[in-house]
Amino acid sequence: MSTPDVDVNHNKNLKTEDLLCPLVEYEECDFSKLLEKPRLLNIERQRSLDERSLSELSIGMSPHHSTRGVDLNSSRIFEQLDSVCSPVGRRSGFSTPRSQTGFDPHPMVAEAWEALRRSLVYFRGQPVGTIAALDNTEENLNYDQVFVRDFVPSALAFLMNGEPEIVRNFILKTLRLQSWEKKIDRFHLGEGVMPASFKVLHDPVRNSETLIADFGESAIGRVAPVDSGFWWIILLRAYTKSTGDTSLAELPECQKGMRLILSLCLSEGFDTFPTLLCADGCCMIDRRMGVYGYPIEIQALFFMALRCALLLLKQDDEGKEFIERIVKRLHALSYHMRSYFWLDLKQLNDIYRYKTEEYSHTAVNKFNVMPDSLPEWVFDFMPLRGGYFIGNVSPARMDFRWFCLGNCIAILSSLATLEQSTAIMDLIESRWEELVGEMPLKVCYPAMETHEWRIITGCDPKNTRWSYHNGGSWPVLLWLLTAACVKTGRPQIARRAIEIAEARLLKDHWPEYYDGKLGRYIGKQARKAQTWSIAGYLVAKMMLEDPSHLGMIAIEEDKQMKPLLRRSNSWTL
Ligand code: GLC
Repeated sequence: MSTPDVDVNHNKNLKTEDLLCPLVEYEECDFSKLLEKPRLLNIERQRSLDERSLSELSIGMSPHHSTRGVDLNSSRIFEQLDSVCSPVGRRSGFSTPRSQTGFDPHPMVAEAWEALRRSLVYFRGQPVGTIAALDNTEENLNYDQVFVRDFVPSALAFLMNGEPEIVRNFILKTLRLQSWEKKIDRFHLGEGVMPASFKVLHDPVRNSETLIADFGESAIGRVAPVDSGFWWIILLRAYTKSTGDTSLAELPECQKGMRLILSLCLSEGFDTFPTLLCADGCCMIDRRMGVYGYPIEIQALFFMALRCALLLLKQDDEGKEFIERIVKRLHALSYHMRSYFWLDLKQLNDIYRYKTEEYSHTAVNKFNVMPDSLPEWVFDFMPLRGGYFIGNVSPARMDFRWFCLGNCIAILSSLATLEQSTAIMDLIESRWEELVGEMPLKVCYPAMETHEWRIITGCDPKNTRWSYHNGGSWPVLLWLLTAACVKTGRPQIARRAIEIAEARLLKDHWPEYYDGKLGRYIGKQARKAQTWSIAGYLVAKMMLEDPSHLGMIAIEEDKQMKPLLRRSNSWTL
């Protein structure tokens, strides 16, 4: 097994700004150059499997691709070790982690660690996850459960702090839950479905503990947790990358768990698009919010999970077949997303002037989008420089709303090209007031009001304008923004956002979300001590302090993937 050749101690006294492009130079900043910087940055520095071309993989892969004398079956995972993101030592006493920079950490950091620790959930003596919120003042509903998506920032915080055990336990426990028989009324769910959440039940009489899981059968609205399986794969890669321990991902049960998840989303059907068709509320936005069809959050997570699976799957008979299917899907998916979901000023103007009712291959307006369906706000929102992946694309329907999670994951997974990633960051900077305002970060923009709100949310009183999922501000998104900032060489943006959050988060007791156009008010029904608000803050701080952490949650662009057509040109192809 190779060990990382970068001495982590070299990074100890460096701050993000030493490693990344200075503010004034970011326009000229070529990220690939940063990666070449010798000995400073250990983010994906070597030509690891992460950087290997998809075309080099799988289809027709011959044994000599395995150059390191390791078993071909394991080469995928072993090679990845070359670029293991070095854990920042195995810190002890992680309730007060020490600063990498030598400066005293913000006083909130220690408080956050204590709060994160209080949220730990144990099963038969072992930590297996973190509770969604530790707020006893509100009705529990399901906030006393461990949510798969909510656990991700907790997991990253523990990994960054050199404490992978809880992540390993979580991965194995949820894997066991996946194998349960899942039923809603008389309907059996797919074998690969991962739970939205689970809970430990204590029986004081028998002095025993059991797990119960929710696959959507108890969830409000019976929503399907499509994102859970993707997060699970992403987390498995983060664990492997951060620890260098390939044994977990290599376990036959982990390989099978991955294949089951992939079977669900790679199956053939009637689809005409490579994107994944979903019902409403199947992700972080787990209520009716018009995010059915092909929501950006799911498409970006799908892409990221496929890329992670490609790194983790063994080249055995079963694995090989999946690898082939993944490679094909990635090509089609990245083309589709980069071409049709991308919106910038030029593209907006093209849509504005679209002809409709075009038939055959020569159609420019392929999805028959009516220019009249362009919402007025989008003309003001679109900056001169910048762009983003819109919320949804399907026949005659483009949802122009901005969704934070999908765009950040698009950057981290390199679904967005370098040019597109830069454009997304430009947009965040130019629309700071709208997207960050007084509390980072808007889950989506803008809010729906009146008639639209009635029709699209079904009159949901929790999702009134500028509240909760409907344009509310979610502190958890801070970690995603920070990771995207570090990846694009714009740490100053993250720093600004973190400072804003630091002014209030602790004082307000770590709310789940904020309300209002600027995010000024603690959300109407927001839980306090919301774990992912706490963990999201910690991850953001740690990543900014030591950008090498980025490697566990980011993947570089595949250099062999087709050079990206600018969004606007692609329509004329
Ligand atoms: C809400 C959020 C969802 C989250 C859950 C637990 O339902 O919409 O994304 O996972 O709370 O925090």
